[in-house]
Amino acid sequence: MVNKKTIEDVQMGGKRVFMRVDFNVPMDEDGNIADDRRIRSTLSSINYCIDHGAKVVLASHLGRPKGKVQEKFSLAPVARRLGRLLNKKVGFAPDCVGAETRSMIDALQPGDVLLLENLRFHPEEEANDEGFSRALAEGIDLYVNNAFGTAHRVHASTFGITRFVPVAVAGFLMKREIDYFEKVISDPVRPFAAILGGSKVSGKLGVIKNLIDRVDKIFVGGGMMFTFLKAVGLEVGNSIVEEEMIEFAREMQEKARGQKVMFYLPVDVVIADRIDPKANTKIVTVQEIPSDWYGLDIGPATCRYFSLALQGVKTVVWNGPMGMYELDPFSRGTTYIARTVADCFATTIIGGGDTADAVNRAGEADNMTFISTGGGASLKLLEGKNLPGIEGLTDRDD
Ligand code: 3PG
Repeated sequence: MVNKKTIEDVQMGGKRVFMRVDFNVPMDEDGNIADDRRIRSTLSSINYCIDHGAKVVLASHLGRPKGKVQEKFSLAPVARRLGRLLNKKVGFAPDCVGAETRSMIDALQPGDVLLLENLRFHPEEEANDEGFSRALAEGIDLYVNNAFGTAHRVHASTFGITRFVPVAVAGFLMKREIDYFEKVISDPVRPFAAILGGSKVSGKLGVIKNLIDRVDKIFVGGGMMFTFLKAVGLEVGNSIVEEEMIEFAREMQEKARGQKVMFYLPVDVVIADRIDPKANTKIVTVQEIPSDWYGLDIGPATCRYFSLALQGVKTVVWNGPMGMYELDPFSRGTTYIARTVADCFATTIIGGGDTADAVNRAGEADNMTFISTGGGASLKLLEGKNLPGIEGLTDRDD
């Protein structure tokens, strides 16, 4: 964190601390938390505040309730899980603003923790409404932004509020995320490789443009590989292609060649006669995709080819699965690459919710150097852009 204050730079004893966290966790059909990593990743900052005698007010969004109160997006289950993880009572306010919430905040004692109800039950949150920002800031002595996953949003609780609090600092999670991405973008240990996947080139356009000038090797898999394969003149059957991105895909491959950046495309793919886990499947070379079949994963030869080319790299950034990994027959490529990356004797950084999920499913989460908790936010950093959630924070004096 180059020039912004962090929670270690401020006194918080007896102060009311408003911490924006990203508790936007996946829930299953029964309303249970399916994955609590985003909650766990904030514990060090919350415990730090508790240990330093702060009165801790936590605020988050969950899902996209579009400004309306919807029970299924309530943060109540998160308050219960957080209580168990902290091993202490966590109060839960039925709203994030209003008289009842205010009196609950006023009643907090040093070391107490209160979670507010979903910020996005109010349309003013996403509108970055000034009045709402003021209401959130009322009576608050210190604002901590620890919601890396939401730091790319210009919302009242991530940006607007910073104008109405005495001081705004970054939490430990925010600092760790920024430090990893800053280092990898500005000063990576080389050779530096980027593995990019996911379905759409358009979603990774800015990342590809930015990374092509910085990496030594780029690997492309996932649905977006077909636009790149089409750009080199191959027929890809019914596989997903963004026609309007073909020219860009061609330009990037040419640019890579001109800059002596190694550009790796798959050599074989897993194809299916329909997009269904029970579909008929085959493995074919990328030259031989039948016109009515769908390419849904990288093939075994590509796995070995990518793996060989990843030997010896010192930094790896991976964003986007290699295929439709959520369906078992098309998950092998992503799992193989997860194992390969985990085995690399390198700094390995995983960005994006799907990639983190895939790494977790492969059982390799503990073998990566860093798994980002932010999808959109980590993409912004890889694009070389600033995050509003950081820009609003107070500058360091030195
Ligand atoms: C995320 O999960 O990417 C963040 O919590 C942001 O959520 P949003 O995309 O709904 O703003």
